Amino acid sequence: MSEYNPKILAVLCNWCSYAGADLAGSSRMHYPTNVRILRVPCSGRVDPMFVLKAFKSGFDGVIVLGCHPGDCHYAKGNYYTRRRIPLLKNLLANLGVPEERFHFEWVSASEGARFAELVTEFTAALKELPPMGKMI
Ligand code: FES
Repeated sequence: MSEYNPKILAVLCNWCSYAGADLAGSSRMHYPTNVRILRVPCSGRVDPMFVLKAFKSGFDGVIVLGCHPGDCHYAKGNYYTRRRIPLLKNLLANLGVPEERFHFEWVSASEGARFAELVTEFTAALKELPPMGKMI
């Protein structure tokens, strides 16, 4: 029997978190390969529908990463995201999606190691849960 490898969607803002992921890759840091990256201009661009569609299409977990507070390229985008996340978590809970399947963090362009660590920890946490399967 093959090992369960959860499918993860990582939604990364272009200016900080994507650059952090890029740094992790170019520095040859090890992190799980089951992560698919969706690059968005800013974490403020993350429509909750992106997350719902990801779960609907079979992803086992979604992680959203943006610039640290005060560092957003668009000044306030990550503040909007920070306000939106509790509502999104509430929505997911009402849909029966366990909160462990969604994660939101700040990762800067210089935090490649932090990106690798977060993805590794998130993958390990998802492995404790059964596969998501497709939501109807
Ligand atoms: Fe990164 Fe806005 S540009 S969170």
